[in-house]
Amino acid sequence: MKQKVTVVGAGNVGASLVERLHTTGLVDVVLVDIPETGGMPKGKCLDIEQGGSVLRSDSSVIGAADYEQTKNSDIVVLTAGFPRKPGMTREQLLDINAKIVSSVARQIISASPKAILIVVTNPLDAMCFVALRETKWPRNRVIGMAGILDASRLERLIAQKLGVSIENVSACVLGTHGETMVPVPSATTVFGVPITKLMKESEIAEVVQKCVQGGAEIVGLLKTSAYYTPAACVMEMIMAIIKDKRKILPCSVYLEGEFGLKDVYLGVPAVLGKNGVERVMEVPLNDQEKAAMDKAAKAVQEMQDYLKKSPVPA
Ligand code: APR
Repeated sequence: MKQKVTVVGAGNVGASLVERLHTTGLVDVVLVDIPETGGMPKGKCLDIEQGGSVLRSDSSVIGAADYEQTKNSDIVVLTAGFPRKPGMTREQLLDINAKIVSSVARQIISASPKAILIVVTNPLDAMCFVALRETKWPRNRVIGMAGILDASRLERLIAQKLGVSIENVSACVLGTHGETMVPVPSATTVFGVPITKLMKESEIAEVVQKCVQGGAEIVGLLKTSAYYTPAACVMEMIMAIIKDKRKILPCSVYLEGEFGLKDVYLGVPAVLGKNGVERVMEVPLNDQEKAAMDKAAKAVQEMQDYLKKSPVPA
């Protein structure tokens, strides 16, 4: 039997992800949205599933307005919520998306109590905290997707700058999925060589700045947030989990002492396998990078403290 993946939120990120999942033929998929969206999730799923013949995929793709058909999913991806509009920071979505994430998490717990939950909704690290608080699941099963996206953006910028294939670039981006993102040049390599040995400090600063602003640039152009690459990045996580790859990917994980930080969600290198986060890999950081991680943790901690004070949203 194929593994089952539920995607909650049939908008840009959710639908793009379902299309990619279907193409693999490896998993059965359910796409859920609120009843107010009418037949939209079903319509999108029919459209996707009808490509099975030309794409050589036997995956079933079901659209739904409730959680009945999502029962016993192995993986649930939470993309429900509002995206950014021009001029907005991810943090400005905090209250409104916390409510949505809480209510979706409650439905997931009863439908798929053993699932691994991948959170995509922004502000990412804070939304992971909401999902963890609501599900009360162990941290290995509540993971945020952000660092893969930020690293992918940085890899593209470095590849273009150096005129080499993006396949030769491996970027390490930790911290928050926001202003306090922590690109780690010392652990960012091209063909195994740290970029600190290949690029001038000013060039590194330039690509890092563009990477941090990468999401906002797209929001300015699209008037909504990115979705093709975010969906591709969630795929990377799902494949690592269902194939039990133990692949190291930067993900938002609830820290329990790693990097000297505790009780806070933050982007760190995570070994992803069949149990979700198998462990966190601590990369060596220099003083500047460590200080940036501390600052990032403080920013998320403030949001978590704010959420702790607010009653569990209805
Ligand atoms: N349950 C299920 N779906 C919901 C709920 C809910 N309680 N509330 C909202 N949704 C659905 C909306 O109906 C919409 O179809 O979530 C979907 C969101 O889709 P888009 O508006 O297209 O947003 P998208 O670009 O997919 O981004 C979703 O991911 O990357 C983040 O910042 C982004 O927080 C945003 C989220």
